[in-house]
Amino acid sequence: MNVFVTGVTGFLGSHFLHRRLDRPGLAAVLVRADTDEAARARLQRSLAVAAAAHPPSVAATRTRVAVERGDVSREDCGLEPRRIEALRQAGIDEFWHFAASLAFEAHRRDEIAAQNVGGARHALELAAKLGARRFVHVSTAYVAGRRTGLVPEALHPADGSFNNVYEETKCLAEHAIARAASTRGMDCRILRPSIVVGSSRTGRAGGSESGLYGFIRLLEELRRALPSGRPPIRLLGDPRTPLAFVAVDRAVDDMLALADRGFPAGPVHHLTPRRSIDAATALAIVCAEVGTPDVRIEPARRGERTPLEALIDQRMEFYGGYLRDPKVFERSPVADHEVGEDDLRRLTREYLRELATAPARRDPRCAAASRTAVRSAGDRAAARL
Ligand SMILES: NC(=O)c1ccc[n+]([C@@H]2O[C@H](COP(=O)([O-])OP(=O)(O)OC[C@H]3O[C@@H](n4cnc5c(N)ncnc54)[C@H](OP(=O)(O)O)[C@@H]3O)[C@@H](O)[C@H]2O)c1
Repeated sequence: MNVFVTGVTGFLGSHFLHRRLDRPGLAAVLVRADTDEAARARLQRSLAVAAAAHPPSVAATRTRVAVERGDVSREDCGLEPRRIEALRQAGIDEFWHFAASLAFEAHRRDEIAAQNVGGARHALELAAKLGARRFVHVSTAYVAGRRTGLVPEALHPADGSFNNVYEETKCLAEHAIARAASTRGMDCRILRPSIVVGSSRTGRAGGSESGLYGFIRLLEELRRALPSGRPPIRLLGDPRTPLAFVAVDRAVDDMLALADRGFPAGPVHHLTPRRSIDAATALAIVCAEVGTPDVRIEPARRGERTPLEALIDQRMEFYGGYLRDPKVFERSPVADHEVGEDDLRRLTREYLRELATAPARRDPRCAAASRTAVRSAGDRAAARL
């Protein structure tokens, strides 16, 4: 089985490729870089991070890896015709599309759409030129946007209501590729992981900086920037919202199991846990580990936000969607797994350990922005820093 994979320098793509290395065949991978050498070095670094999260590493590398330089925002993902022909001759069976922008800000809409919607379209067109018999698009369970209740494994309305541009463009991408695949008569599958966290075996983050980890960094910066004894901080949301954490190795297990079984249930699959943790419990666990007391989740009440809370609301634009609009994802049978409360504790602890040993990974903009806004808003308690 030969595969083409995008997004291999990122979190999910690198773990997927790392797991797949023990299978025979060719893996042609798309990497953004100026030179072939830089592309190979970037790939090696991301595979090393993935491998370190799951020791012992793969028993043997049986896959031949071909590194292709390119960019999904360009036609044919930037591959030259001779490379496309060479890969077509080699025979690509499956095309796995992980690459995307996880940016979410409204003012970056065009750029995010170019990566997520344009990128998905270019990837599918390239897959067709390569003669791939199946296109697997990695989406997100949060294309459901502001919808509540049971979320079906089906396309959602493209004009639905979303929490941010990331969710919206990922939903538009699903529609774009479903349309293009049906025009071309191509087998297209959409996989929707929920909130992907580090390894179920070691608790290591494995290279993720988003989702849970971005939220931990925010809490860490608040702990460092604000004095003890400050008033409680209220995050906007519903404390009962289920948070569907899924460990990266379990998500990859599900991907490979579904592919091996030919995606029996249909074109759309949620890669979600059998049981979620409610937002209030998850927040209490993470805050206790970080040492940021008195952070609560409360429903919105107009006009009652403190300047600090208003700032945090902005920073929460990405994570905020997880805390609102309680939803449960329909889940056709794959394997049964969950991230329990002890797992969440361990994942948080491991990440804090990583942050302590690699402080440069802290988002410096967060600390600076927190301090500036706190001071300019005249929040006297916080300004005693
Ligand atoms: N992490 C999660 O919790 C989660 C949950 C649900 C769904 N997902 C989905 O899973 C996929 C991977 O997410 P992730 O967490 O692994 O993100 P990530 O760590 O940010 O990785 C994104 C990957 O996409 C590549 N990429 C972005 N724009 C590109 C472009 N124009 N051309 C070529 N490559 C490009 C990046 O390459 P560079 O290294 O060059 O930037 C990187 O390899 C995404 O589709 C995301 O929507 C993620």
